[in-house]
Amino acid sequence: MADELNRRNFLKAAAIAAGPAVIAARGANEKVNIGWIGVGTRGYAGLGWLHTAAANEVQVTAICDTYEGYIARAQDRMQTVWGNKAKTFVDYRELLADKSIDAVYIMTPEHLHHDMTIAALQAGKHVYIEKPLAHTIEEGFDIVKAWKQSGKIVQVGTQNRSSALYKKAKELIKQGMVGDVHYVRAFWYRNSLPNDPAWRYAIPPEATPQNTDFNRFLGTAPKHEWDPQRYFQWRLYWDYSGGISTDLLVHQTDIVNFMLDKTVPKSCMASGGIYRWTGKTDDRDVPDTLSAIYEYDKFHINYSCYFGNDHYGYGEQIFGNEGTIEVMNRQDLTFTPELYRGKAPDDIKNRKTIALSRKDFNQTDDGVFNHFRNFIMSVLGKEQPIAPPPIGQQAAISGHMATLAFKNQKKAIWDEAAQKVTFA
Ligand SMILES: NC(=O)c1ccc[n+]([C@@H]2O[C@H](COP(=O)([O-])OP(=O)(O)OC[C@H]3O[C@@H](n4cnc5c(N)ncnc54)[C@H](O)[C@@H]3O)[C@@H](O)[C@H]2O)c1
Repeated sequence: MADELNRRNFLKAAAIAAGPAVIAARGANEKVNIGWIGVGTRGYAGLGWLHTAAANEVQVTAICDTYEGYIARAQDRMQTVWGNKAKTFVDYRELLADKSIDAVYIMTPEHLHHDMTIAALQAGKHVYIEKPLAHTIEEGFDIVKAWKQSGKIVQVGTQNRSSALYKKAKELIKQGMVGDVHYVRAFWYRNSLPNDPAWRYAIPPEATPQNTDFNRFLGTAPKHEWDPQRYFQWRLYWDYSGGISTDLLVHQTDIVNFMLDKTVPKSCMASGGIYRWTGKTDDRDVPDTLSAIYEYDKFHINYSCYFGNDHYGYGEQIFGNEGTIEVMNRQDLTFTPELYRGKAPDDIKNRKTIALSRKDFNQTDDGVFNHFRNFIMSVLGKEQPIAPPPIGQQAAISGHMATLAFKNQKKAIWDEAAQKVTFA
């Protein structure tokens, strides 16, 4: 009897530790029902990626978007890839009210992440939320809090963590291949022709105020009259985006945190501006050129981003005192030992150079398939999410610090006790 009680207690504890398993609630043969909020560029592609990642475990039963054209396009994709159509919604709250939906993917502009994620958690859904976690540091902490209260699985869309290349880099660093690391250089460079300005993504010619719900897009952002540029090119405006810092840089601060077991930097200085895309009619707010310097405890990240030359592509370079690891364009990983101008001791000199690419890991994508699958397996209680909200928040804080330092033209200091930024 005592044994039986112990066993029952153990099973109860194990069930709690394994997290809220949807499968237990829904029956072993049922698939996880997914609702998809935002089927724009990322969301449309994601509908296909999820099929590759977990077609046997999930089905997409509902989609929500505020532009009719994208809903129609997503329904076509549903039919071709999944073989079924989904219920459609314009108001995400109506989708969340559907009790048959277990989990949602949220792939909407940054300023909507906060309200949508919290509403989804309160509606009892598991959530995959795209990076950055939220539009401000305070909003990010709200999400972390709501996640803790909910007991649900949340995965933040920083998929580099699920890439075999970065896992390998982390392993090599742990093995001591590069020695001590005090310095990392990270960068993202892009270029495009003068008639194709950075982040001026195509506006569907059919989009009108009648088939596009501009007010729902605005959400809690400042009121604005219909403006298709703001709607389809939201990254260029502070009201909806932190620009380079929260769009691209967060991936890189996140993966540096991952590879080197770092969290939030002590300070950030940032500088830049709109240098390249200065067309007379271009009303963008966010810089196309940004440098940021992060200080940690005896550790430094030197970051740069420029949208006027892509010769060097993008990547992270880990400068150890005994060697260098580079991960470039989410494609290639190299290790090179230090030479010390010909005076390298044998144990360093004998470390073989390494050159690996995704193909060596049978990985065709940037890690997103694994990242999606890890989320679904976590919902099923079989894995732990690799990028839960506290991790997403740490990466986002670095991004927000760069935006705040740039906008205020002051050094942003992280006040660990108060969990907020001050300026020096
Ligand atoms: N992890 C990555 O590598 C990666 C890459 C690209 C984008 N992203 C992230 O994905 C998210 C979406 O980016 P995107 O490039 O697809 O933007 P997008 O503008 O192409 O798509 C956003 C979609 O949200 C819809 N939308 C706007 N307001 C809505 C609302 N109130 N309710 C429902 N739908 C609404 C729009 O109609 C559009 O279809 C962003 O957070 C972005 O940072 C991540």
